[in-house]
Order: sequence, then structure tokens, then C-alpha cells
Amino acid sequence: MRRGSIFALLGIGIVAGGIATAVAVLLPWLPEDASRERGRIDFVFWFTIVICIVIFALVVAVLLYSIYKFRAKPDDDSDGPPIHGHTGLEIVWTLIPTLLVTSIGIVSAIVLGRNDAQGKDVFRVNVTAQQFTWSFSYPEANNLTTGVLRLPVNRSVELSFKALDVIHSFWVPEFGQKQDTVPGLHTQLHITPDKLGTFPVICTELCGLGHATMRTEAIVMTTAAFDKWLKGQTAATGSPNPAVSGAAVFKNQPCGSCHTLTAAGATGKVGPDLDKLPQWATQAKQPLEQFIRTSITDPNAYTQPGFPKNVMPPFASLPKAQLDALVQYLIQSSKKG
Ligand code: CUA
Repeated sequence: MRRGSIFALLGIGIVAGGIATAVAVLLPWLPEDASRERGRIDFVFWFTIVICIVIFALVVAVLLYSIYKFRAKPDDDSDGPPIHGHTGLEIVWTLIPTLLVTSIGIVSAIVLGRNDAQGKDVFRVNVTAQQFTWSFSYPEANNLTTGVLRLPVNRSVELSFKALDVIHSFWVPEFGQKQDTVPGLHTQLHITPDKLGTFPVICTELCGLGHATMRTEAIVMTTAAFDKWLKGQTAATGSPNPAVSGAAVFKNQPCGSCHTLTAAGATGKVGPDLDKLPQWATQAKQPLEQFIRTSITDPNAYTQPGFPKNVMPPFASLPKAQLDALVQYLIQSSKKG
């Protein structure tokens, strides 16, 4: 091969590789990186991207060079030379991809193993998935249950999943890890958040009509802020004054996104107005307390006229103390409203 050809090949390869690198690096393809596991996943990603860019540059260089160099002249109608393969080349183009794909496999296996491993001093959260809501309970805090996931930063978290109805899938893009929740199966996920902030929790398994709305937030807090929050919540749920704890439960659960309740500053319009609960209970011919309790734990037993069935998820897994507090809070707030 002449020196000119080598320079031409190199030149095209460098330009193609440069353009591909710019596209890969300059455009924000990935969400923010907010967990140690995500950092490792990104490493596999970039490891693969680098390989792809090199192969891309090589292919484009050979392709463009061949198109230019070996094109047939306009008046050339003869057949090309008969070529019967090239054993050396074939060995090379089999061996190199084999090595590359194997190396991607090995790197992925190491990362998977590390990401699945349980860290020290694990913080446990039980996650319940149901059509169409998430709830999180903290065994370290008397099974306090919230609708928003709160986590301390830089601590290994073990999420244990339970699905009450169909298959859902837990995903926080910034955390990287993703896990299906399957009825009857106990699935787990380890995450070590390493950045403060609020990130979306998304259901990524088509689970019914409300699938797209099955979202909440994960809030990563400093250890001090988290402990303070946890203490406040535990005190609230264990408090003898139901008005205080009930308000916290209402806020922790997604009630306000669908219902209006003046006392809580909630203005949701999807479900019945909770300021009018006494009126709805009379209409349903039920005592107020029983009406509220059943409406929370088994909302399809009686649906307010004018509202569709099977929209509100049953909050049957709410611990009794919190349910009691919530019921009392709703009774008091709606009588005021
Ligand atoms: Cu739950 Cu989609």
C-alpha cells in the first residue's frame, strides 16, 4: 500500500471518529448520574461507545476510500477480478470482534455483580406497587409509610418490592438500576444514592390504563436532614394527637394530587372533594368514619356518583396507626371545611 493511501485512510478515519466522538460527548444523552451503581453502568456504556467509535471510524475510512479508489471508470464494462477470500483477513475480522464482545461481556458481568451486591449498614425500604401508585415503608421507623421515597445520601439502600396486582417496574433514571415488581415474587434492588436532589420515580412496565400516571419522587437528603425528617415523622405517627399525625400521613400519601382538601391546601380535581365528606357519607347512607375508612382501603366498594370506578387505588397496606390518624384527620378537616 502506498504512503498516500495510508494517509488518506487515516485522515478519513480521524474525521469520522472525531465527528462520532463529538456527537457522543457533546449531546446530553444520559440523565444526571446520582448513584454509585449508575456510575458503574455509565462506565460500561462509555466502554462500549469507545469501541463503537473506533470500529465506526475504521469502517467509514475503508468504505469511503474504496468508493473513491476502486470505482469503475464510466466506460469500463469488464467484470471485476475473481477473488476467493483471504484467510488472514478473515481470521482478523473474526478474532477482533470476538475479543471486543467478550470484553464487553466481562466488564458487564463485573458491574452487574457489584451493583447487585449488598453494601454495609444497609438502609431498608419496603416498596409496594399497585395500580397506579407507589408506597414506601421504612422498617427502621415503625414502618412509617410514604408516597414519596426519601433516602439518605451515600448509604446503601435495599429496596424490597411487593406488587399487589400486576407486574410493575421501578425505575429512577438517575439511579440507573431498574427492577420489575411481580405479584407473588420477592424482588430486590440495591442503590447507593450519591447526589442530593429530587428525582422522578417511574413505572416502566405497562400495567393498565393509569400506567403513565404511576409516578412519584425520590428525594435524596443529607444524613442529618434525613434523620431529622424521620424523627419528625415517627413522632407524628406515634403522636396521641391525631390531627397532627393525620396531616403528615395525608401529605406523605398521594391523596392531594387527586382530591381537594382545604385544610391541607390540596386542590386535586380527579376525585371527589374531601371538604364535602360528611355530605358524601350521608348520600352513601353510611356513618362518616366507616365511610372514610372503607373509601381509603376499598375504594371500589362504593364509588361517588359521577366518578368512574377503579381509578383510586386501594390503600390497604397503610399501617393501622397511620390509617386511623388519616381517618380522624379527614373527619375533623372536612367538618371544618
Ligand atoms: Cu405500574 Cu406501569
